[in-house]
Amino acid sequence: MVILGIETSCDETSAAIVEKHDDHLTLRSNVIASSLALHQKTGGIIPENAAREQIKYILPVIHEALEEAHMQLSQLNAIAITYGPGLIGSLLIGVETAKTLSYVLGKPLIPVNHMLGHIYANWIEHPEITFPALSLIVSGGHTDLVHFENHKTYTVLGGTRDDAAGEAFDKIARLLGFAYPGGPHIEQLAKKGNPKRFTFPRPLVGSGDYDFSFSGLKTAVLREVQRIQTLDEQTICNIARATQDAIIGVLIKKTLKAAEEKGVQSILLSGGVAANQTLKDTFEQKITEHLPGTAFFVPSKRLCTDNGAMIAAAAFYHYDSVPWQEITADPQLYFA
Ligand code: KG4
Ligand code: ZN
Repeated sequence: MVILGIETSCDETSAAIVEKHDDHLTLRSNVIASSLALHQKTGGIIPENAAREQIKYILPVIHEALEEAHMQLSQLNAIAITYGPGLIGSLLIGVETAKTLSYVLGKPLIPVNHMLGHIYANWIEHPEITFPALSLIVSGGHTDLVHFENHKTYTVLGGTRDDAAGEAFDKIARLLGFAYPGGPHIEQLAKKGNPKRFTFPRPLVGSGDYDFSFSGLKTAVLREVQRIQTLDEQTICNIARATQDAIIGVLIKKTLKAAEEKGVQSILLSGGVAANQTLKDTFEQKITEHLPGTAFFVPSKRLCTDNGAMIAAAAFYHYDSVPWQEITADPQLYFA
């Protein structure tokens, strides 16, 4: 079984071919075009600019994905498409392209929730994942904790009440003078930072629920930056370190609490922020210390940020083919 996955929910345009035999997924190609350079010039994503670039990229990207996989459109069994959540203009480009392909080729079309896609990036490289599992998705738009009893039965335990973890990285990096995406800048700067120089709030860390909040952290950093007025290089690194420590601290504490309470066998990390090596290393260390025996999975870096492969992967396990006429882009789509 072969699925073409298409992803255009934010600034990336991606198409991938994924094949499934028994319970193993094989990545045949995963082409990603990004309009990042353009967004770096404007200091962030301007939705209309992103969509205009995606119109140019979408067909060449699909073509390249097929070529790399040495496949023809006729060999596909289905097409999977991200239909939400995301930017409406961007989503529409992928959705309309996928609907056209489905209609012209007479192939099933499978609508995929972007967040579910992020989780399933884990199954591309880790067929050994066992249930029950707990998934933490940390991206630019979402911070969600999801408990999976099996592929079909899952519950969202909590999410962010305001800014997402990636958004906090991006906004704080911007305060410090760094371009979008801010996460990789903060990660690099933090390596040279003194962890003891600043302490930022860790909102909701001790709350009894599984919600997150990161907007207070951003305000605390803003106040500190205004108080200091002129930032030297070392101070910037110290602020980056304290920011990263606060975000990572809250994410890990809440995830481990939920994992223990639910008695899960696997913890899955995914989403753009999962590209952060310090987050991955600290997670691994804390799981070994506090929940030995619990397996920990993270996709490789290229599968953490938005890509078509994760959309195809999710489609295999949530194969709900819908007539193309019934699929519409849904920018506010809820997780479940
Ligand atoms: O999943 P993604 O590619 O797009 C969304 O669906 O939002 O995530 C993008 C987010 C951005 O906020 C970016 O700053 C963050 O992922 N990110 C990182 C790192 N690499 C990307 N955050 C922290 N550390 C990183 N190394
Ligand atoms: Zn994403």
